[in-house]
Amino acid sequence: MKFLVLHGPNLNLLGRREPDVYGSLTLEEINAAIEELASELGCSVVFLQSNAEGALIDAIQASVGHYDGIVINPAAYTHTSVAIRDALASVGVPFVEVHLSNIHRREEFRHKSLTAALAVGQICGFGCDSYLLGLRALFSYGKKH
Ligand code: DQA
Repeated sequence: MKFLVLHGPNLNLLGRREPDVYGSLTLEEINAAIEELASELGCSVVFLQSNAEGALIDAIQASVGHYDGIVINPAAYTHTSVAIRDALASVGVPFVEVHLSNIHRREEFRHKSLTAALAVGQICGFGCDSYLLGLRALFSYGKKH
C-alpha cells in the first residue's frame, strides 16, 4: 500500500515554531519517523509540505488512483479551507486528519475542523505520534477495505 502524507502551512518551521505547543522535532525528523514506521508496516509513503492552499489541493486531486490513503495535517487550513475540504470530498480517497496539538483544548477558533467530518478519523494531541497513529490506523483501514 502507498500513502500520501500532507503537511500544511508553517509545519516547515517545526522544531523552532512554538516548541511548547508543537514539540522540538523538525519536520524532517517527523518524516523520518513516519518513514521508519512505513517500512516496518511494509507500505510506502510520499511526503509533501506546502504553505500554499492550491498546492495542497493539487496534491489531493492528483492522489486519485495513486494512493490508498492520505494522512493530512492541514494545519491552519483545517479551520478555514472550504477548498481543501471540497478537494478531499471530491476525490474520495480515505484520509486521516492529524494534529500535533490537541486542537480541542486550545483557542476556540481551532475547535472547528472543516475536514474532520469527511475523515475516517481524527487524531490530535500526541505530537509526532499523531502521525504514526494516523498511518497505522489508515494502514489497517486499508487492509479491511
Ligand atoms: C496544527 C493545529 C492548527 O490549529 C495550527 O494552525 C497548526 C498546527 C497541529 O498540528 O497541532 O498549524 O494543525
